[in-house]
Amino acid sequence: MKANIGIGENHLKAVAEKLQTLLADEQVLYTKTRNYHWNVVGDNFMEMHAFYESQYNELAEIVDEVAERIRMLGHYSTGRLVDFLKLTNLLEPEYTNVQAEQIKNLLDDHETIIRGLRELITEFADKQKDLGTSDFVTGLLRQHEKMAWMLRSYITK
Ligand SMILES: [Fe+2]
Repeated sequence: MKANIGIGENHLKAVAEKLQTLLADEQVLYTKTRNYHWNVVGDNFMEMHAFYESQYNELAEIVDEVAERIRMLGHYSTGRLVDFLKLTNLLEPEYTNVQAEQIKNLLDDHETIIRGLRELITEFADKQKDLGTSDFVTGLLRQHEKMAWMLRSYITK
């Protein structure tokens, strides 16, 4: 059933499509963070193991919220891994157990998502007339900025 929420059908469709790509990015970053939670090694293992867990838990919540936001706009959400991999802007690099490389890979992904979200905030408000989703992605921007800061704080040079 269509959502009669004061936003044109074409606008809803355009917003939902952008959110599908965002959902794919969040899902890939969730998996990458969990991979590092499992495979990190070092004398600070427990610190990094727990830190990555806190980050993937936050990403899991974001994944859920983005998918449900798509449903609120009257569209079905992507839900297959094969589709996420087709849609995502992020890359899956080779396995690494080296903490510095893991941190850099995750930080790059958060910053890619942040730059994309910044564009979506204005596009959703100005072009698509969807202030609710613009506000929603503004919240996600702040969450990613905080997660990126925490990752960046492990880099000392
Ligand atoms: Fe675990």
